[in-house]
Amino acid sequence: MKQTPAEETITEKAVASFSTTPDARLREIVQSLVRHVHAFTQEVELSEEEWLAGVRFLTATGQMCDGLVRQEFILLSDVLGVSMLVDAINHRAQHTVTESTVFGPFYIEGMPDREFGENMAFTPGVPALVTGKVTDADGSPLANATLDIWQTATNGMYSGQDTEQPIGNLRGRYHTDEQGRYAIRTVVPVSYPIPTDGPVGQLLSATGRHPWRPAHLHFMIEAPGYRTLVTHLFNHDDPYLDSDAVFGVKDSLRVAYKPCEYNNPLAKTFGFKVAFQHATYDFILPRVPS
Ligand code: BEZ
Ligand code: FE
Repeated sequence: MKQTPAEETITEKAVASFSTTPDARLREIVQSLVRHVHAFTQEVELSEEEWLAGVRFLTATGQMCDGLVRQEFILLSDVLGVSMLVDAINHRAQHTVTESTVFGPFYIEGMPDREFGENMAFTPGVPALVTGKVTDADGSPLANATLDIWQTATNGMYSGQDTEQPIGNLRGRYHTDEQGRYAIRTVVPVSYPIPTDGPVGQLLSATGRHPWRPAHLHFMIEAPGYRTLVTHLFNHDDPYLDSDAVFGVKDSLRVAYKPCEYNNPLAKTFGFKVAFQHATYDFILPRVPS
């Protein structure tokens, strides 16, 4: 439809109103935001009822945040694909290092330091061992790197989110040895739905989208002089790999859990008394740019 004179001038007036913003980057961001929001409003010819529904949706999104474990705005960014777009923009052209993915809202700082191969699972599941190395892009091992790990219990909930779970369940800070090796004893991750009891859940249901994430283990890996890596390892055979609710899957982050019998030599080393599943993955960290 043809724009009226008022429609034609309002965008330029709103953009111009921010032209005296002293900080150049803030000016660029706000003026671009105004242009894009106006273009969107014009494109869909937003009705007054729809505008109000949008205001109510964003208000409810803010009201759902509790400053602790629930951050509905991040969840909204995740399901709109914005979080993974920010990730892609900020990790361009790093083909020689491990790929990053979405951080998610369930990380908790200050979880227990764990020994090499220590069990972090205090709730039941299929016993698992995850081992590998952390190296730089030339393959040199990074000793004493920290791997901060978190995953859901088999009920699909994280400790903190699910108050029935012991503090620190399926969480912990592991450290690499002199050869850059790490070992984590846990349970095989399961797929789980992102929280659907808020506005984001309503959006998914109204648009016919499912809320599931493929099974994964979260990692935040830190080593002095290297860029912190936030990533996941996804179970390679999960049915939701091609339809992750938050678009976080990258092919290079898929791992296979292979069955090992109770009499496998690794069982003795890591204290398994029953059969278990073993996955291996080597992480490569980029140097902090100088
Ligand atoms: C997660 O993997 O913990 C997660 C990521 C994005 C949204 C919700 C959960
Ligand atoms: Fe997760």
